[in-house]
Amino acid sequence: MTPPPFLRHDETLFCNLDAFEHTFVPDHLYHRDAQLQELAFLLQPALRGGSAGSAVLRGTPGTGKTTTVRRIFTLAGEEGQKIAPAYINCRHDHTQLAVYRSIFEQVCGCPAPPAGRYLDEIKRGIAARLRDEKAALVVCLDDADELIAAGTYNTLLYQILRLYERWNVKKPGVFAVTSNLALNLYAEADPSVRSVFHPAEIPFLPYTKVEIREILTDRARQGLYPRVISKVLLDRIATIAAGEQDVRVGIDLVRGAVQRAEKDGRRRVTPGDLAAAARAVTAPALQAKTARLSDDERALLCRIAETSVEGAGMAVGTVFEAAQDYHAIGRTACHEHLNALAKAGIIDLVPGTGRGRERAIRLRYDPDDVAATCTAAKKPGSIVNPDQAGIRDSRPVL
Ligand SMILES: Nc1ncnc2c1ncn2[C@@H]1O[C@H](COP(=O)(O)OP(=O)(O)OP(=O)(O)O)[C@@H](O)[C@H]1O
Ligand SMILES: [Mg+2]
Repeated sequence: MTPPPFLRHDETLFCNLDAFEHTFVPDHLYHRDAQLQELAFLLQPALRGGSAGSAVLRGTPGTGKTTTVRRIFTLAGEEGQKIAPAYINCRHDHTQLAVYRSIFEQVCGCPAPPAGRYLDEIKRGIAARLRDEKAALVVCLDDADELIAAGTYNTLLYQILRLYERWNVKKPGVFAVTSNLALNLYAEADPSVRSVFHPAEIPFLPYTKVEIREILTDRARQGLYPRVISKVLLDRIATIAAGEQDVRVGIDLVRGAVQRAEKDGRRRVTPGDLAAAARAVTAPALQAKTARLSDDERALLCRIAETSVEGAGMAVGTVFEAAQDYHAIGRTACHEHLNALAKAGIIDLVPGTGRGRERAIRLRYDPDDVAATCTAAKKPGSIVNPDQAGIRDSRPVL
């Protein structure tokens, strides 16, 4: 029997709303076999009673770093307790005490002694448990940049990696994760840390549109009732998410579009639902990031967007030359502005592969949208030349 076209007030289009939470670990991890294998290879010695290796995981936001580590930690935890995995979200826990308390809770399975007690007491508890279980500690420091900002990166790395010196445990492994492509977590380590930190570099490239579509199709299967969203709309969402180089944007768009259909009592998502969801997901983020830039940074960003639309090369040198057309800017200032744009999450500076290995600039947003947002955000007295920057109308995201 065909269901009535409109939802009853107690009906929902989501069979599992959790599938759209950012912390959801999917049944199957698509297109990350190489990274999973590399991490498994580093854990293997520990499964045989030895020590685990270390790694630096690097990739832009939404490339599956956290999910991949969580997946391998779940698998490792099942293997007869020879590995004691501890996942630390350094955005939340960046002091020494917070990190050790979190390790204690995960290794010992109970809360750490009350705050304010000596760190050594917590470390002793962790080490005792590791010895009892004959397990090797592996710590994931996710978003490890936060430790650098907090001034605890080197101390924590040193202490964790050298835990065996003082507490008679197996040498721990550390998986340090960052979404900042310009940051080299190995180079940030002191020489004393580097002598025990020999991480494998594990890159996470942005998913292609085809890969994102596959991930979204699987997520829709896990989280939605059948036929709620069409393949055509999923394909459009994959295009937007691929443009953002962030599969998370795609997951948010599916949820946002379905919620709009549900709110209106419809059983199917329409293109209008998606258009509204897309505006809600991408526009405010770009506007907020652009508004925080200085006038000169915004002017350079506008020129980058123009260059990208014109189809010219996006090597740093090319953009520097192009910037001279509207404003005589020094090389040092140009590099500082580019770093600020990368830090703001609007561009990525990708190490080059050609001769000279000049870095290339990758915009995270649609170039037309960037140009329009820069123009709209232009403050009085800005050096943006309206002839060059303001002529482009805002193009709908879809
Ligand atoms: N290969 C994949 N298969 C299925 N789902 C995935 C895959 N990769 C990522 N996801 C989903 O995409 C979302 C973002 O992934 P994740 O949090 O792992 O990204 P990240 O690289 O850690 O991003 P950030 O740098 O912002 O922390 C999650 O909801 C995750 O479930
Ligand atoms: Mg993450």
